[in-house]
Amino acid sequence: MATVALLFNQVSARDTASELDVLRQCSAVESSLLRLGHRVRRLACTLDLAATRQSLLEFQPDIVFNLVEALGGTDQLMGLATLLLESLRIPFTGSSSLALQLTTRKPLAKQRLIELRLPTPAWLLPADSGWRGLTPGRNAPLKALVKAASEHASLGLSESSVVDCRSSLCFSSLRNSMDTASAQFGTPFFAEEYIHGREFNLSLLGGAQEPQVLFPAEIRFEGYSEDRPRILGAEAKWNENSPEYHRTVRTFSYSPADQPLLDELGALARSCWSAFELNGYARVDFRVDADGQPWVLEINANPCLSPDAGFAAALERSGISWDQAVQAILDDALRPRNS
Ligand SMILES: Nc1ncnc2c1ncn2[C@@H]1O[C@H](COP(=O)(O)OP(=O)(O)OP(=O)(O)O)[C@@H](O)[C@H]1O
Ligand SMILES: [Mg+2]
Repeated sequence: MATVALLFNQVSARDTASELDVLRQCSAVESSLLRLGHRVRRLACTLDLAATRQSLLEFQPDIVFNLVEALGGTDQLMGLATLLLESLRIPFTGSSSLALQLTTRKPLAKQRLIELRLPTPAWLLPADSGWRGLTPGRNAPLKALVKAASEHASLGLSESSVVDCRSSLCFSSLRNSMDTASAQFGTPFFAEEYIHGREFNLSLLGGAQEPQVLFPAEIRFEGYSEDRPRILGAEAKWNENSPEYHRTVRTFSYSPADQPLLDELGALARSCWSAFELNGYARVDFRVDADGQPWVLEINANPCLSPDAGFAAALERSGISWDQAVQAILDDALRPRNS
């Protein structure tokens, strides 16, 4: 039996559905920890890190289950909680501060992917005059998506985030869109080649030797015409009253012909896990283009643990119980790590 502090970012009734979701994750993890026989106390974390530090010193947990997704209203600061835990030498679940920093900042993560020769769509930062990460021999993107550089939950993403790049004014219109979105949402945006094709989520669970790749999920865009942009945007994720919410469906059913692709996605997800030194649990999001080439869209260290989110669904489809997974995440946190 362990004494576990369940650390999460404090939310208030005024917050959005995506921000309030952390409370559902807390309940799911807390009930599991209690069923597993651990002693648990919830600790809400804010930017007042001195208060969190004091609570941790008083409670003296054996381990922290880390559910801090954001601080001060931005994902960019989530790493402050883990930096505190690292400085106090308290073991915690999920990935290290370094891995969280690298994966949360999508352009940084993409740079690392390119250095490791892992496929990720070309991208452009606001001050750039040319595409980054363009594979030799590959044409410049025909369409690009303007998306948040360091926030999750599809902040500011919709079909209208897709920009046509065929005109000579492409860079200036992308720059305008990046500036407008950054000003509107108060956080940096960047542009990325839009990949029109199938979308997959590969979840991973830490293990003694290597992570287990869970059964792949595909997000199907039902009833979308061929030329309609396929974006799992904020409405599709969070607004139950929107058509997109009902037309973007997670599935686990494949034809035998999909097996080589699924194996390739699994191998890429595993490479991401080791390249970024992830721990505990993770989810890698992919798009596959018309030529069957997979592209890593993003690496989610510490992905959402809500009962209805992709990680829990992949566990269920893989025959792993929720409690087994929570214990596996604790066990992975207690293994020696380098950072
Ligand atoms: N380059 C791209 N090409 C096509 N679609 C994309 C691309 N980038 C993002 N998308 C669409 O936008 C969605 C959200 O993008 P992404 O996963 O990068 O953002 P996020 O906000 O971090 O999401 P999450 O909630 O998974 O953390 C994807 O699931 C996909 O549907
Ligand atoms: Mg994603």
